[in-house]
Parts: sequence; structure tokens; C-alpha cells
Amino acid sequence: MLLHIPGLFAKEEVQRIRQALEQADWADGKITAGFQSAKAKHNLQLPEGHPLAKEIGAAMLERLWKNPLFMSAALPHKVFPPLVNCYTAGGSFDFHIDNAVRQPKGSIERVRTDLSATLFFSEPEDYDGGELEIQDTYGSQRVKLPAGDMVLYPGTSLHKVNAVTRGARYAAFFWTQSLVREDSQRALLFEMDGAIQQLTQDVPEHPSLIRLTGTYHNLLRRWVEV
Ligand code: NI
Repeated sequence: MLLHIPGLFAKEEVQRIRQALEQADWADGKITAGFQSAKAKHNLQLPEGHPLAKEIGAAMLERLWKNPLFMSAALPHKVFPPLVNCYTAGGSFDFHIDNAVRQPKGSIERVRTDLSATLFFSEPEDYDGGELEIQDTYGSQRVKLPAGDMVLYPGTSLHKVNAVTRGARYAAFFWTQSLVREDSQRALLFEMDGAIQQLTQDVPEHPSLIRLTGTYHNLLRRWVEV
């Protein structure tokens, strides 16, 4: 399941973040790539633990934890803190699948990468190329979102970032370990939660809402891993 989460950051906030990123000291993106993906990866990245990356990451996670769409779709257990990258001057990242397990620098805790997410900090018209191309069950999807918007997709997907041939593409990305490992089960719970939320608005007094909500939780209990 591919999910677009709009407006995580307002336009003024995004502009402030982008200005700070334009002044930052960037490193080669290969620093966090595995042996194989290092050959495919041509971009810049803020080093893990860079103060600006930490600040942006903390702000992002604070928003996400309050975002009903993200909470319902991801059912997050823990995350690998956001990393910030920049594609410019022909930079690209060829087709790959992300590593299954990640360990944040200086942490003993490991994160299984059930879900990947990219938050865009550049407006689509400010650069050419740079689409995030994701292969999902319905074929290939090209994602290039307004600044402040985020896409969430299964960590199992083959994906790439097309070459940026004009301007710069700033973005943050991170991985989430979900309470529910399987994408198909998570998608079903997300669908059901959405339907229950809609019914709660439209027919708030209907007695079946209690049964439906109970069924949602009983399915979740069956699949959850903590
Ligand atoms: Ni990737």
C-alpha cells in the first residue's frame, strides 16, 4: 500500500528548513548504504547525528505521532530516526530494496524496516527529475510531492530515485517497524479503521459501531507483535 500524507509541514516551515539545508555541510550518501546499494547510490546526505538532521527528525516524528493517517496506516512500534538527503547535479539512486534491519548509530536497539517514508522539502517545480519510483502490486508508481508532504510505502518494495537534472531535491526519509509486520494485514486494518471513523461521524449512535470497533481490536490483537 502506498499512502500520501499531505501537509505535515506548512510552507513557511518548509522554507526555513530548506534555507538551513542549503547552508549545511553535506557528506556522500554512501555512508549509510550497504555494500551493494553503495554502487547504486549517488547523492548527498547529512551525517547521522548531525544537529540539523536531529532537529528536523525530531520535529517530523512529533508531527507524525499526532497524525491520525500515519498512526492508522503504519501502526508504528519504533522508528529509525530520519536521515536527510539531497539529490543534485545528476544525482540518482538506482533500483534497490532497503536493508531489512537497521541499527541507529550509538543505539543497541535494532529496527525492522517494515515501512519506508520520504518527506519532500523541495517544491516539484524547483527541480527536474528526482521522482521516487516505487514498484508495487499495481505496477510502477512515480511519486513527486509538494514540499511538506510525505509518502509511506512497504519496505519490501523495489524503488529508485530518478536523476535530478536541474535544481536540488531535498528530502528526509526514515523507516518504521510496525506492530503488524505484514503489509496486507496492515492494509486491511487501515481500511477497516477508516470505515469505522467514517461511520462514527455519520451515524455516531449506531450500536454496531461497538461491535465493529471490537472486531478491529480483536484482529489487531491476533496480528500484533510487541
Ligand atoms: Ni531505498
